[in-house]
Amino acid sequence: MSESTEARAPANRVLPHELPASLRDAGLENWIREPLDDAVDRRRRIIMPPAAAVMGTPASAYQGALLAEARHPDTVFMMGDNPALPTMPSRPTLGDFFQLRFSKIARTHLLQSARVAREHGLGEKVIMACLLHDIAIAGLVSANHGYWGAQMVAPYVDEEIAWSIEKHEALRYFPDESVGYRYPDAYIDYFGPDYRPPGYLRREAEAARRHRWYMTSRLVTINDIYSFDPNVVVAYDEFEDVVGRNFRQPREGLGFDGSPVAHMWRTMIWPNNFL
Ligand SMILES: [Fe+2]
Ligand SMILES: [Fe+2]
Repeated sequence: MSESTEARAPANRVLPHELPASLRDAGLENWIREPLDDAVDRRRRIIMPPAAAVMGTPASAYQGALLAEARHPDTVFMMGDNPALPTMPSRPTLGDFFQLRFSKIARTHLLQSARVAREHGLGEKVIMACLLHDIAIAGLVSANHGYWGAQMVAPYVDEEIAWSIEKHEALRYFPDESVGYRYPDAYIDYFGPDYRPPGYLRREAEAARRHRWYMTSRLVTINDIYSFDPNVVVAYDEFEDVVGRNFRQPREGLGFDGSPVAHMWRTMIWPNNFL
């Protein structure tokens, strides 16, 4: 190979570029997708972890270093389809998000919760709320998940369903012996036996208890099961009928209907977009 060709990057691949040791030490090479065969324009693509994911962790110190990586030739930030994720249809439905985006564990939890609600003979509003109650954990963000989840679905479901999704987060912490709801054993594992929910959740739960839709949300917590059989597979198709009657699927697809929450669905379609 002559010197002149060696100095030029071959047209069909990106020259390997050594990451700074600080990025490697911080484990941040996971955020950089090397140019694989399926990479757009054969460029290395950087994923900038969202602030909410790294705040309070050592990874937050390396945002500048990741930013600097984008100055290298043939390196860009991830925008649009991430080849590591299945491509979403142009007009995605709720089912597409369940099948192509939601984490397996959360999807299984939601489907099993909805199935238990149906087996208990509960109404469709409760079944639908169970199917959606942890949708934010499944695809967007876990902290304040009841509130995020309720907002995500509010334009598409009955107000009572969105309300019960919002309130289930607070009601989960507070037993109601009159309907056989105990503090979840799982929360003792998750938060320790000495955990006490903050005042705002206590106030939310107290207000929810006086609301006319209290029992809808309480039933979500009762059917919010953690001890499920990992071998039981519940197909989303089992709920196509309930979804068809209780979820107003926008014609343009979730994320593209111009609703006040479309950006939340787009964030799940392209979760790694830099901006
Ligand atoms: Fe939840
Ligand atoms: Fe749940």
